[in-house]
Amino acid sequence: MKRIVLRSPATSANVGPGYDIFAMALADPYDEIEISLNDTKEVNIEFVNDTQAIPTSLEDNVAGLAVLELIKRKRLEQGMSIRIHKQMTSGAGLGTTGASAAAVIYGLNKMLNLHLTPNEMIDIARMGEVASGGSPHADNVAASVLGGFVLVKNYKPIDVLKLEMPEFPVVLAILKKSQRTTRGFITYEIGQEKLKEQMARCSRIIHAIHTHDIEEFGDAFSVDHIAEPVRGAAIPEYAEVKNHVISAGAFGCQISGGGSSVVAVCSPDNIDFIAAIMEKGFAGNPNFIQVIKTKTSNIGVQIISE
Ligand code: HSE
Repeated sequence: MKRIVLRSPATSANVGPGYDIFAMALADPYDEIEISLNDTKEVNIEFVNDTQAIPTSLEDNVAGLAVLELIKRKRLEQGMSIRIHKQMTSGAGLGTTGASAAAVIYGLNKMLNLHLTPNEMIDIARMGEVASGGSPHADNVAASVLGGFVLVKNYKPIDVLKLEMPEFPVVLAILKKSQRTTRGFITYEIGQEKLKEQMARCSRIIHAIHTHDIEEFGDAFSVDHIAEPVRGAAIPEYAEVKNHVISAGAFGCQISGGGSSVVAVCSPDNIDFIAAIMEKGFAGNPNFIQVIKTKTSNIGVQIISE
């Protein structure tokens, strides 16, 4: 097989209190990634439709770094050209970089018959994340590889559990980060009371997924004592919009992954109203791109053509 085209979805990491261990795949938006093998030993990355000046040198690109990791681990000497058809906004907490890394590793696994397990693919793809956030967190790439809701059970070695995610309506306000990453500002000293609440909220999320309870999910999802205080403070109007969205009947509202996008879960008949509130609330924010109505999805990376 010489050419493959894959679709890789946006993912929303952390899912409230599950910092670096929870993520969920979304039906929209997504990017398409095309891999063509060739007889050179060179790896080349290019973007189609990129208006965001994403780096294409292998060491600075998340997919590029993941390919270098694969080449190193499997001692490959395979030339290839990777074209990323960009539809998603990068640097907005939508797991777009992880989506590209996941698709490239998934596609090469298929094309080169590498027989990698999902955990191995996730472990290799996550190494690419160092190019964007400085840390090889596995949550986004895991949700891209597997779809649905993922729980990173273990980091050393990587072990990820996928749960079938009920189809929850989601409103996504896409906002780019105002700085490259906020991870470095997060302190992990949250104290005993908040730690207990955080653990309880993680447990409630898993229970809500098993019982398909969107109200319980949304309520548990709406508080995070680790990343939200730092990242929420960096998003103008975040607290106000969140309060407004919850008072208007959304079941939950939270920052998506590393931010600054904001994600709300609601009922299907309330989705237009919630979307309008988020659109209006963030309209004055210079980093605001758009509001998208989407849903959680059990589909991860998909092969579109081969
Ligand atoms: N868990 C990661 C973080 C996700 O919170 O930094 C980044 O999308």
